[in-house]
Amino acid sequence: MGPSGTGPDCREQEPAAGPGDAMRAALSALILRQSVSPKRMVAPGPGDDEIRAIMAMALTAPDHGHLQPYRFIRIADLARERLGFVFQEIRRRAEPDAEEAVLQREREKALNGPCLLAVVGRIREDHLKVPPSEQYASVGAAVMAVLVAAHLLGYGAIMLSGDRVRDPLLGAALGMSEVEELVGFITIGTIARPPSPKQRPAQNDILSTWEGTPASDGRRG
Ligand SMILES: Cc1cc2nc3c(=O)[nH]c(=O)nc-3n(C[C@H](O)[C@H](O)[C@H](O)COP(=O)(O)O)c2cc1C
Repeated sequence: MGPSGTGPDCREQEPAAGPGDAMRAALSALILRQSVSPKRMVAPGPGDDEIRAIMAMALTAPDHGHLQPYRFIRIADLARERLGFVFQEIRRRAEPDAEEAVLQREREKALNGPCLLAVVGRIREDHLKVPPSEQYASVGAAVMAVLVAAHLLGYGAIMLSGDRVRDPLLGAALGMSEVEELVGFITIGTIARPPSPKQRPAQNDILSTWEGTPASDGRRG
């Protein structure tokens, strides 16, 4: 019985065969999700309908107060080169003596991977009930939802940032407002070369059970 004595403890539940099987199969597939470098991707990326499905999934992110503290900007194919020049300009300003080969690599970073989505955070610092930490949690959940949706559609995806996302030049180029921040970019594409399977950390590192007694390790209080 569970802690209240009224129901089964979640540790005791046996997976039963039934309608939940399809969901369990989906979960097994999702647990295999891992990030795929843009260099391992080729075209095509998701089409318009798939992007809509991915955004529908993003909108399932938990969102305290319905503040919608995130939005996505799809970078049009024709705008990728322009984005590359913005990357180059950021590098050039930071490193005025940078060689052309270095600048070219910066430009090329904007071209990697078939589909590019900018992730924009819209955090309300002064909200009376929902602190920024909860809003950032919502942004992260939306990012994960996009990665999961891409994976379920059979694509590889990855979230990348880098120092340049905090450069005002990039935010201005993408038409972001002063109160918005660029969290990074999600690249989505067809997996050409799958990455080697990833070993995840032990579950004991992230799950413990509190039995109702104070911890005695002195971490708090
Ligand atoms: C907001 C955010 C920004 C990230 N930026 C980078 C980055 O710039 N470079 C990088 O190598 N990984 C970055 N990562 C981590 C990768 O997206 C990815 O999680 C990591 O490579 C582990 O892969 P996995 O998703 O298969 O566990 C970022 C993750 C998040 C959530």
